[in-house]
Formats: sequence, structure tokens, C-alpha cells
Amino acid sequence: MNAGTDAGPGLAALRALYPALDAEIDGRRLVYLDSACTALKPERVAERLADFYARWGGCGGKRSTHRLSQQVEEWFQDARRAAAEFVRADGPNEIVFTSGTTEAANLIARAFPYEPFRREVVITDLEHNAVALPFLEAARRGEIDLKVCLTDEGRVDLDRLSSLITEKTALLALTHASNVMGGVTPAAEAAKIARRKGARVFIDDAQYLGSHREDASTLGADFIAFSGHKIGGPFGIGVLWGREQELNRLNHYKVGGGTIKSLSWEVGAGAPEPRYLDAPMRFEAGVQDFGGAVGLHEALKVRAELPDAALREHVAGLVRRTAAGLAGVAEVKVLGRPDDLEKGSLVSFVPVHPEFSPVDFNLYLNHELPGRFVAIRVGEHCAHLLHRRLDAGATVRASFGPYNTEAEADLFVDAVKSYAKEACGG
Ligand SMILES: Cc1ncc(COP(=O)(O)O)c(C=O)c1O
Repeated sequence: MNAGTDAGPGLAALRALYPALDAEIDGRRLVYLDSACTALKPERVAERLADFYARWGGCGGKRSTHRLSQQVEEWFQDARRAAAEFVRADGPNEIVFTSGTTEAANLIARAFPYEPFRREVVITDLEHNAVALPFLEAARRGEIDLKVCLTDEGRVDLDRLSSLITEKTALLALTHASNVMGGVTPAAEAAKIARRKGARVFIDDAQYLGSHREDASTLGADFIAFSGHKIGGPFGIGVLWGREQELNRLNHYKVGGGTIKSLSWEVGAGAPEPRYLDAPMRFEAGVQDFGGAVGLHEALKVRAELPDAALREHVAGLVRRTAAGLAGVAEVKVLGRPDDLEKGSLVSFVPVHPEFSPVDFNLYLNHELPGRFVAIRVGEHCAHLLHRRLDAGATVRASFGPYNTEAEADLFVDAVKSYAKEACGG
């Protein structure tokens, strides 16, 4: 990859891995600026999945012992090791496969061992519904007390956060990168504050890992979650990372096949008593998404071929360019502070002119640009707390992946300008 520029073989070769980039939609070439919703999938991932299902597809999890099952189980554990390496975990036992970040957050909200005198959970107004709602529901069930830390233009004020975290705080749940405001949050500093007060820390890495690497062993969190589909893997597979000791402290979330060591039962002598396995197996109930794990592993291999620093620099450059281009458009206001934005991978804005309609603009991008179909996202982005806070009905978001080009960022900026001129008469 050739960081920061469209020239050179790096970016062209990378783009060639993604057939969707050659796709035509209604006769228009796709310009994909929606990687925050889901990243495009490399062809290799699709091929790996097709081969897995067509030629293997036995059940893993040490169920059957024939060759098909043994191979699938081996690949499943290879994927676990690759995921552990991706987040620089201390070992594969720290990796629990989930269906995604949403399931990981639900697992933590449900299974966390809150104590009578330590049952507060602190979140921020940046949290995606995937994280906000499981804790909101726990509060509604009366299991926890929920506190929401307000942010300023997407920035987490550590003093404010610190004043909300007390000796009654069980858990801090914080996104590492907002899916609306862009930028990144000071997750390591926040984790330090929380742990100093005896609270545990859950970090939502769903957006962060698109162009950053995480280092679970030094971050200072107890739990991290991410979704495979946001880094080029299949839908329906994700990871909850946790320190082994912390995972084994959690209560049950789902139980079923594959989670127990033994079950003792004397007919007629009370209820049967299961003895559960340690993490990660005790959380992986039922037949797992073995294909998903294999596909995720392939996506991680593709990712491993991209140098981390060059990937970051490339995406930061696209964000900088887009934010700078939009700064001069009077009809819209870019969210977040310019210095913060380039640390993330997306740019969002709200219209400030009454005639600039996000929904109409979305249609314009799909149907009115000669030869191009630009895919972005418009709406509340499952971040309802933040949208109430911003008092915004809908925000417009362009988000970038490794495969995007400067020309695509410029095309988007030009489209905002031309739409604004047409709709607002600017
Ligand atoms: C910040 C953030 N957290 C969590 C999620 C939920 O991820 P998933 O739907 O893959 O579980 C998303 C999805 O957009 C997100 O952006």
C-alpha cells in the first residue's frame, strides 16, 4: 500500500482484492464510503467460505472425531489463535467467539457479577446501541445503576469521567472510536482511571480495528469486543477478548452443548448438577459458526499483509482531506474537532441549511453523479443517545477503508458542494 496517495502499485493491488470495487450498480461504478457500517470483503474470504462449506463443513468443537470434524476443529482453533494475535492477547483462551460486538456487549451486561455495593455502570453518550442498550436494559431490570458521561464534540473529558467513576462502579463501558463523531477515545487513560477505583473495563473496538491495531495486553481493559464483518470477515462472527481470570468470574450467559465438563445426576436425587468448562468454552454454547471463524481467519491474513502504520496513515489522510474539503461548505457542519478527526476513519456532518436534506442527498449520491454510485450512510447510525444529545434527526457519514482513494474522497466532497448548490441555491 502506498500511504497517502492513489499512485503506485500498493493501492491498486489492494483494490484488486475486492471485486465489489469493480461492481456496477445501475450502470454506475461503486464508490464505497460505508466501511463503518461494514467493510468490503476480500474475494479470498468469500472463496475460503465457499470451499469450507462445499468441501468440509463438518462440526467442530470436539463433537465427532472423524477427519472432517477434526479438520474443522483445527481450523477453528487456528482462527482463535489468529484473533488472539490480532489483538495481541496473551493467549487463545482469552478469545471467546461471539456473533459480533453486539453479542459480546450483551454477554458482559448479562453475565457480569455485579455486587450489591458495586453495581454502577458508566457509559458515554458516544456508545452505539449495541453497548448502550444491554446496560440500559440491565438498569431497567433493576440490576445496575447506569450513569452516562457526556462528551464534548466527541471528546471524552477524563476529569468528568473520573468524577462519575466511584467505588460503587462495577464497570466502565467505552467505545474506542465513535461510529458518528470520528476520532478515537482515550481508552487506555480511561481504563487506568476506572481500574484505579476497582472497576472493570469493557472497550468496544468495533470501529477502532478497521484501521488501528489493539494491544489487549497493555491497554488496561478487562474486556474488548469486535466484529469480523467490520474488518473484512463474514457477518455473524466476532470476538470477545477477556483476561482469563475475568472471563471465568462472569456468570453464565448462554449454556448448552460444548460448555460442560460433566453432569452428575442420580435419578430421583434432586436436580442434576453440571460442572462447567473454563473460558472460552463455557461461553460457546451450541454448534459454533465454524465457517465464520475460518472466514475471519482469512480476513485477518489479508489484514496482516497491510503494514499497520501505512494503513493508519492512508486512512488518516483520507479523513483529513475530506474534513478539510467540507470545512469550506457553508451549508453543512462537520462533527468533531478537526485535530481529533484524523485519528479516526470517518467524517460526519449535519446540515445547517434548512434545504440540505440528508435523505435527498443520499439519493443524489446514488443516482445523480455521472457514472458513479456513492454509498454512504445517513441516519442515526444506531447511536440514539448521541443524536438526542446533538439534537440531530440524521447525520451524514462517509467512512473509509484501506481500499479507498483520495479521488473517492474528493468525489464525495465535490458531491456535497454540488448538491448544496442545487438544493440550497448557494
Ligand atoms: C461503535 C460500534 N459498536 C458496536 C457496533 C455493533 O456491531 P455489530 O452490529 O457488528 O455487533 C457497531 C456497529 O456499527 C459500532 O459502530
